[in-house]
Amino acid sequence: MLEPKLYSKYNDLQRADNLFVLDKFLRLIKWNDHEAVLDVGIGDGSFSMTEVVSRLPKNFRKFVGCDVSESMVNFAKNTYKNPAVDFVQLDIATENIPRELEGEFHHIFSFYALHWVTKQRQAFANMYKMLKPGGDMLLTFIVRSPVYDIYRAMVQNNKWQPYMKNEVTKNVYAEYKEPEKVLEKLLRDTGFICHVCRLEKRTFVYRNMEVFKNSCIAINPVIPRLPSEEVPSYINDFIQQARNLKFVVSTDNVNNNEESVVSRHEILIVFASKPLEKK
Ligand SMILES: C[S@@+](CC[C@H](N)C(=O)[O-])C[C@H]1O[C@@H](n2cnc3c(N)ncnc32)[C@H](O)[C@@H]1O
Repeated sequence: MLEPKLYSKYNDLQRADNLFVLDKFLRLIKWNDHEAVLDVGIGDGSFSMTEVVSRLPKNFRKFVGCDVSESMVNFAKNTYKNPAVDFVQLDIATENIPRELEGEFHHIFSFYALHWVTKQRQAFANMYKMLKPGGDMLLTFIVRSPVYDIYRAMVQNNKWQPYMKNEVTKNVYAEYKEPEKVLEKLLRDTGFICHVCRLEKRTFVYRNMEVFKNSCIAINPVIPRLPSEEVPSYINDFIQQARNLKFVVSTDNVNNNEESVVSRHEILIVFASKPLEKK
């Protein structure tokens, strides 16, 4: 189980990058009346509801937020009530996309979610299937980040290794010098027309260690797999690794001696469309 309530408070890094993407690329989307929109990996729903739904044309037909995590979907359902908005539990890389979602959407968004998905080819094939011909998608997700380096250090510890899977230690694109080219090829192979596929360097400073810690706990897929008595020790090791890897900056004369954490990371940004004529 992820921690939707905590994530709703500690999502500043994701929010800053997502807003950067919306500010720069939302204008590329051509809207018509009564359209259906899908948002993949909505998490707690806060970003989608406050920043995405508010930017849609007033007469959109429906907005569906999906997430693989039951706790995230339940939190979003209980927190946001809007008759034109629906939240569903869905693994975007499933081999069985529900029939009723095929060819259903004019636009797909996905913010800070697709780097969790190891079956990228299946995920893009599903998004292609769910779009209407002529539909488009605006996506952003992380490719390289200090947090991956922390997970890679943690997996060296025999105590944590049995609880860790590839999704946190290995980003599908990080090994490539030009990940945007690899992603663009995958999108074209899937059938998409790729208008934007770019890599963007981003910097974010967590206000203090507490904020960094809570941000990492909120969406840490390893914590739910741990015996509960081991969780505090895991969190301490995680923070210690951030210090060892020099992501923690001591700011002696600023911030009342608090440590702050700097993330220099890279995101991929995609704007692509499904051709009008089916290939
Ligand atoms: C960091 S949260 C991002 C939430 C929100 N989009 C935002 O930007 O604040 C990533 C979300 O992706 C979801 N996710 C991971 N793998 C997924 C999959 N295969 N299908 C759908 N959602 C997935 C996780 O459950 C998590 O809630």
